[in-house]
Amino acid sequence: MTDKEHEMENKTDEKILVLLVDDETGFRRTIAKRLGKRQMAVIESPNGKACMEILEKEPVDVVVLDVKMPGMDGIETLKAIKKVYVKKIQVILLTGNAAVSDGIEGIKAGAFDYLTKPVEIDHLVNKIRQAADMLRFETEKQKEQEYRLNLEKKMINTERLASLGTMSTGIAHEINNPLAIINESAGFMKQVVQSPEMAAFPQKQALLTGIEKIEKSIKRARKITLQLLGHVKQQSSQIGECNVKALLFETLSLLQNELDDKNISVQWEMDPEKMTIWSDPYKIRQVCMNLLSNAIHATQENGSITLSGYMIDSDVLLEIRDNGIGIPKENLGKIFDPFFTTKSFDKGTGLGLFVVHKIISALNGEIHVKSEVGKGTCFTIRFPKYTKISDGTDKMERGQIK
Ligand SMILES: Nc1ncnc2c1ncn2[C@@H]1O[C@H](COP(=O)(O)OP(=O)(O)OP(=O)(O)O)[C@@H](O)[C@H]1O
Ligand SMILES: [Mg+2]
Repeated sequence: MTDKEHEMENKTDEKILVLLVDDETGFRRTIAKRLGKRQMAVIESPNGKACMEILEKEPVDVVVLDVKMPGMDGIETLKAIKKVYVKKIQVILLTGNAAVSDGIEGIKAGAFDYLTKPVEIDHLVNKIRQAADMLRFETEKQKEQEYRLNLEKKMINTERLASLGTMSTGIAHEINNPLAIINESAGFMKQVVQSPEMAAFPQKQALLTGIEKIEKSIKRARKITLQLLGHVKQQSSQIGECNVKALLFETLSLLQNELDDKNISVQWEMDPEKMTIWSDPYKIRQVCMNLLSNAIHATQENGSITLSGYMIDSDVLLEIRDNGIGIPKENLGKIFDPFFTTKSFDKGTGLGLFVVHKIISALNGEIHVKSEVGKGTCFTIRFPKYTKISDGTDKMERGQIK
């Protein structure tokens, strides 16, 4: 039996919660008692208003509703139920013997079905079961639709990021050469402006300020191309056994000054086992560097960063947690986008996480983030031991990166 079948069977075992709405107390009590004997949970209500109040609190599956009631009648109550609970609750109407038109009006307003009084109990039980089955079917259908929609959204996002990645690395390549020429020319201009012959030039200072602005912008543009091209220097990259723990430790020591400046403590909670994968250490170091520097930027003075690592089967699971400022909910969907940053022009390019995402996708890994404003952020990464070649076969190749 599959999980789904098992789940369905369990669901069938669950008691159906029925809300019985009728102003005739004697009739209501008798029906409630008899439904109870047939494995149904029953709540009673004497009128439409009380019915609506109960529905706010109880997870009712089926409402059995008398049409002729003083005050809010059955049809009115049915309309109110359908307005609020649409597909979450099914309604069966109980009409008077000669009032078929009420039943038809009820069906038009969304009732599952109607029965005429006096009610035959087994007939009512069958109708309630059918209504509950329909409800389960609708819920499953809705869940499946939501799941498919989420999956599609996720796929579109990954594809979008992948194509943006390809495009932006291409652009970064093209920009690198003119950038080098601009840099060289700016250096030359600075030299000329600072030479003794230019000492009396009236706009010397304005020229120097202009050149410095050019240099500052070159620095930023370089930071961008460096991030984007950092992980495509394939020719020289060495694929081999990477010790993730050692690489993380190495990156951490490169950031020691920044940690000391803010007096940030680092908790090290690592699996004593060796944590190795087949990959490019340069890329793994870049992932660690980008995530750790983000954590440091987000953490206040005397804050803390916790680094945890485990082996799950043969994959490596890494957690980088900080108790910093956190990420607002509305930004969580954007942080992996290129150029999304909340930092100032000279502090952030918004490419760090974009590059991290790209590297991890290429390794067939996964990255997840959890964050709460004011409490902190936790990035979880799963590195597979080997990179799968996605040609439809399950073949593994050591050290091969797509
Ligand atoms: N650990 C974190 N805590 C809080 N916010 C974070 C954290 N990591 C990332 N962010 C948010 O995500 C944004 C994007 O991060 P990303 O690393 O891509 O770019 P950046 O850090 O702004 O710039 P760059 O890394 O290029 O210097 C950041 O500006 C910040 O708002
Ligand atoms: Mg960053």
